[in-house]
Amino acid sequence: MLEMQDCPFTFSVSLSGGRPTQYDHHITRALSAMHGQYADQQAYAALLDQGDKVIYEVYEIKRPEVAGELPHGVSIVHPGKVGNEYFMTKGHFHAELETAEVYYCLQGTGVMVMETPEGEWSVQDLRPGQVLYVPPRWAHRSVNTGDEDLVMLYVYPGHSGHNYAAIERQGFRKLVVEHNSQPAIVDNPRWRPPGQDLPESF
Ligand SMILES: [Fe+2]
Repeated sequence: MLEMQDCPFTFSVSLSGGRPTQYDHHITRALSAMHGQYADQQAYAALLDQGDKVIYEVYEIKRPEVAGELPHGVSIVHPGKVGNEYFMTKGHFHAELETAEVYYCLQGTGVMVMETPEGEWSVQDLRPGQVLYVPPRWAHRSVNTGDEDLVMLYVYPGHSGHNYAAIERQGFRKLVVEHNSQPAIVDNPRWRPPGQDLPESF
């Protein structure tokens, strides 16, 4: 484990597996932590019955949560689907909305699903060597559309914070599903434009 240090340091990230040689904290998010996130809730329950699979992992290099610092680390989304919807991260806005993030894809294939509080959306491809810039205000969720781990290095400002609640309420505007053996972007039926309440059934 890496002590938080104030002198320069290096580490490396395995290009087969994605595990960094040093980190402060290892997060694993299992299927049970994704309740309500997948559109097909029956498929979710059926898969959960087979065991609480790990969907994604994050190896964090922690830094003080202040402007000027740059927390970073490696995220690994495992391959798989819930129904026809690919394994993905919970996704979040930054609590300090006016903060950005950079991702660098090291391994695997997938997409980053993004949206603003005003309802704009964007889905960008991720493949090894691809750099993705998430501008301030854009919520982001990584989705593994391939059959191997999706491994990415990320860096964000120390004062960003995380806001998961807004996404947990109704998900992202777009879902990424398998259709005719290909990834497809479809509307999320639960999503409502800003300011409109969810229907009673949700
Ligand atoms: Fe972020």
